[in-house]
Amino acid sequence: MGTSGGRLILFRSAEADDAGLIAELGRAGKVARMQSPGLVLVEEEVVGAGLPVLAWQGLPGAEFVSAPSINAWARLLLERLGPVAGGPWRLHVLPHYGVRATERMGARAWHTARHQERSRTEAEVTAGAGEHRCRLIENALRELLKQQGRQLLKGWGQSELPFLPEESLVQLWLCSPEQGWLSVAPAPLPSSWKLSPFVGGEIPVAVDKNAPSRAFAKLVEALKRLGRQPAAGESCVDLGASPGGWTYVALQHGARVTAVDRSPLREDLMRNPQLTFVKGDAFSYHPVATVDWLVCDVIAAPQRSAALLLDWLSRGDTRHFVVTLKLRGEEDPDFLNDLRQKLTALEVDWNMTHLNANKGEVCVYGSAKIPVEGPR
Ligand SMILES: C[S@@+](CC[C@H](N)C(=O)[O-])C[C@H]1O[C@@H](n2cnc3c(N)ncnc32)[C@H](O)[C@@H]1O
Repeated sequence: MGTSGGRLILFRSAEADDAGLIAELGRAGKVARMQSPGLVLVEEEVVGAGLPVLAWQGLPGAEFVSAPSINAWARLLLERLGPVAGGPWRLHVLPHYGVRATERMGARAWHTARHQERSRTEAEVTAGAGEHRCRLIENALRELLKQQGRQLLKGWGQSELPFLPEESLVQLWLCSPEQGWLSVAPAPLPSSWKLSPFVGGEIPVAVDKNAPSRAFAKLVEALKRLGRQPAAGESCVDLGASPGGWTYVALQHGARVTAVDRSPLREDLMRNPQLTFVKGDAFSYHPVATVDWLVCDVIAAPQRSAALLLDWLSRGDTRHFVVTLKLRGEEDPDFLNDLRQKLTALEVDWNMTHLNANKGEVCVYGSAKIPVEGPR
C-alpha cells in the first residue's frame, strides 16, 4: 500500500474534453495538466470557485493511493475514514481506467432506436471497466465496518440528493485494479465547491421513445442534478418549447405549462388541457405573475439566453430555472465567469455544467435562494 499527494484537486472532465477543461481552468488563472485521459489535475485548491463547467466532478485534496487487493482497498479506506466519523457520509467508488463509463447515443442512433421501437434501459447504457471491482471494494469495506467500525457503518448513507451540511463525501477513483485517487472531504462540504451527489458526476442519459424529441433528456438530467422536480399544479414557462420534449417532462410531473415558440408543439401536447401555447418570441414573453419554473432551451446566442435568465431572476419572475446556453466557441472567454458573478450577486443557488445529455452546450440551473413571494 503506498501513497503520495499534497494539495491537489483532480477533476473528471465532461465528455473527456481535457483540453477544454484545461483551457477553462487556464482562463481562471490555474495551471492544470492532464493526469490521464479524462482526468485533469491542478496543484492547488481551486474548488472554492465551484466546479468548472467542463468538469463533472472534483476530488478535493486528492491523494494517489495503491492497494494490491480488494481487502487491502477496504483496509485503506477504513484507515482514511477518521475525518468523517461521527456523522453521515457517502462513498463514491468508480473505475476510471481511461474508458468512458457511459456509452453515448448520437441523434441519429436515437431516432433509429426510436423508429425500430428498441428501448434501452439506463442500466444498458451504463457500462465500465472495473465496475465489478468497485462494488467488491464497497462490499469488503461494509464487512470490515461490521467488525471494526459500527458507528461508521451507521453513518454510511446512499443518496443522489444534494449534500446536506452534515454530510461528508469520500471518493475513490480507480485508475487500475491496484491504483487510484482518494479524496476525503469532511462535512460541511462548502456549497461553493458544488460537488456532484452523483458518482463521478455522471448521470446516464434518459431514454423515452414516446418523448417528442431527444432534448427531453436534458431537462430530465438537469432536474436530477437540481434535486427538485416540478410538483403537481406548479406553473412552468417553457421558452423555445417546440417540438415539446421539455414541456412533455413538465406535464408528466403534473405542472401547468405555458409553452412559447414560433412553431407549435407535437399535436398530442397541443391538446393537453394543462398546456397553454403562446406563438411568439421567447425574448418578449413576460409572465403576469411569478412562476415556479422557467425552463428555456431556445436556440439563440448564449449571451441572449444568459441575459434573459438574469432579467427573469432580477425581476423575481421565477423560483427555479433550467436554461441551456448554446455555446458557439466564439464567446468572450470571460462570458461564463461574468455570468457566474452576476448569478452570485443575485443571491441565487446556481449550477452551471455540461450535462451528459448536452452536446456543445452548457446548462444553468438552480433556484432563487429566498423563495419569491406569491403573485406581484
Ligand atoms: C432546441 S429547440 C427546443 C427543443 C425543446 N426543448 C424540446 O425538448 O423539444 C429550440 C426551439 O427554439 C425555438 N426558437 C428559437 N428562437 C426563438 C425565439 N426567439 N422565440 C421563440 N422560440 C424560438 C425554435 O423554434 C425551436 O423550436
